[in-house]
Amino acid sequence: MCGIVGAVSANNIVPILVQGLQRLEYRGYDSCGVAVHQGGELRRSRSTSRVAELRTMTEDDGVASGTGIAHTRWATHGAPAVHNAHPHFSRGQIALVHNGIIENHDELRDELKAKGYVFESQTDTEVIAHLVHHLYAGDLLEAVQGAVLRLRGAYAIAVFCRDEPGRVVGAREGSPLILGVGTESGTQADPTARYLASDAMALAGVTDRIVYLEEGDVVDLQLGKHWVLARDGERFKPTEREVKIVQAHSGAAELGPYRHYMQKEIFEQPRALADTLEGVEGITPELFGDGAYSVFKNVDRVLILACGTSSYSGMTAKYWLESIAKIPCSVEIASEYRYRDSVPDPRTLVVTISQSGETADTLAALKHARSLGMEHTLTICNVATSAMVRECKLAYITRAGVEVGVASTKAFSTQLAGLFLLTLALAQVRGHLTDEQEAQHLKAMRHLPVALQAVLALEPQVVAWAEAFARKENALFLGRGLHYPIALEGALKLKEISYIHAEAYPAGELKHGPLALVTAEMPVVTVAPNDALLEKLKSNLQEVRARGGELFVFADDDTKIESSPGLHVIRMPEHYGALSPILHVVPLQLLAYHTACARGTDVDKPRNLAKSVTVE
Ligand code: F6R
Repeated sequence: MCGIVGAVSANNIVPILVQGLQRLEYRGYDSCGVAVHQGGELRRSRSTSRVAELRTMTEDDGVASGTGIAHTRWATHGAPAVHNAHPHFSRGQIALVHNGIIENHDELRDELKAKGYVFESQTDTEVIAHLVHHLYAGDLLEAVQGAVLRLRGAYAIAVFCRDEPGRVVGAREGSPLILGVGTESGTQADPTARYLASDAMALAGVTDRIVYLEEGDVVDLQLGKHWVLARDGERFKPTEREVKIVQAHSGAAELGPYRHYMQKEIFEQPRALADTLEGVEGITPELFGDGAYSVFKNVDRVLILACGTSSYSGMTAKYWLESIAKIPCSVEIASEYRYRDSVPDPRTLVVTISQSGETADTLAALKHARSLGMEHTLTICNVATSAMVRECKLAYITRAGVEVGVASTKAFSTQLAGLFLLTLALAQVRGHLTDEQEAQHLKAMRHLPVALQAVLALEPQVVAWAEAFARKENALFLGRGLHYPIALEGALKLKEISYIHAEAYPAGELKHGPLALVTAEMPVVTVAPNDALLEKLKSNLQEVRARGGELFVFADDDTKIESSPGLHVIRMPEHYGALSPILHVVPLQLLAYHTACARGTDVDKPRNLAKSVTVE
């Protein structure tokens, strides 16, 4: 999704801006651009191609300056086209980039048009550029303060003015923005430099001195100095924000022997799980942060808020929490929860789950829960420096490492590991975990990396199935109990990267409607662990076979489900108990991956999707 980089420096900052965009590329974008102050005027390069092309354009055109801003755009208002790409200019004087969505852009556009402003794009961003220009009377900081007071919606902006070289002003509300302070070391080696970015990762290797701007902040960057102003109603007051030392990873991980990042990340799961569980010697609430014991003691229920794949890890956790920790749990899609009337209970542990920690809907749902008086908050998140971690009292940081592929894989399995630990910690505090049970669960968790290796070795068999899937346009996924969310995740993976329409159902629900879809043309993927529901599931498989449906079953070794005409079986290892979902999701990830490869889609950057969804 959209990315921002901006800087003032005594040196040329264009290579740093472009490199920053490259580091944000994995988040998904459809155009990119850079603007600088050069020769007393604004200069810009924009492209609907890759950032590498933008780099060549800036080099060929000799774009160089110590003041500039850059952006990767993920289209919301207006098609992905050069004229809609950021930075946007206003009357050759103001240059501006923006992440987020301005809700009152129509009203502002009409107002500015009436004042004679001409719009070259369909974006809401151009409205902000003209608004800043309209309010500009010689001081960019004042103009930006005035402009943001008029905006409704979410924004992170970076802006500079032709008449004030060596100055960039930023502001944020609802979209992340960080300030970087230059150092003697790093790629730029300029302690007077100041940077803006939507994510610390954009500045990896440039500076590790980061200020996390808070909601409503406006920031003024000049050579060797910066000021933060905090919003207080309709006014802004100077404020101090702590400079933190943050080791951001570049994300530009090598592909190694893999064809795509997604494949690499699927195969990284044994290591990601080992890293996530490293240092877990025993179950204790303090794994989730200081004060977790008293929080866990004071809650009677769990409310999980998440989106997409992360919501499926939450759905899996609901089964664990209710059966092992005996605590009622509800799972809500964040974009729904934030807008519906619900009945709050202050004795609720609100758990957000997020790979990126920046998902706008999940952050807003968290805020909503807090506004309803639910103050016990915990996040399971893969980015320690993210807004989600900063906003929640307690956290478990999964150590999946940077996930580049848009389709989440290793983040999901490590979320499950974090959620299982949460289940055990709550069970312990609530008196439902004996020492022996704790030891058994920990043993099974520690063995997961080895068990996963055995599942990954099934790849050649999955490749053979993928050839058949690549010719289909629809697929059904079935699972029961703990593995129903895994079926949902398998269907989501298939649709998002292969563009095959896929739906998942709890297998017992089939006869209540979806069975009507089953014909010889409909592949039915089934997750078949050897759990208490196996016999019921076998009956559901019969229902499909009786209608001519073709079954593709991932069956635990001890299930005794054998291949026969119309029934294809890939044998999983023996049943892995409560942690079985972490194993069963892997062949579904591989199936989606190889089907997408066979169809020739852009696996790591599927159409219309972004890695980090920072807009509503
Ligand atoms: C699907 C996928 C998305 C994300 C969702 C939430 O493969 O990755 O469904 O899970 O956008 O993102 P996070 O976890 O970053 O909050």
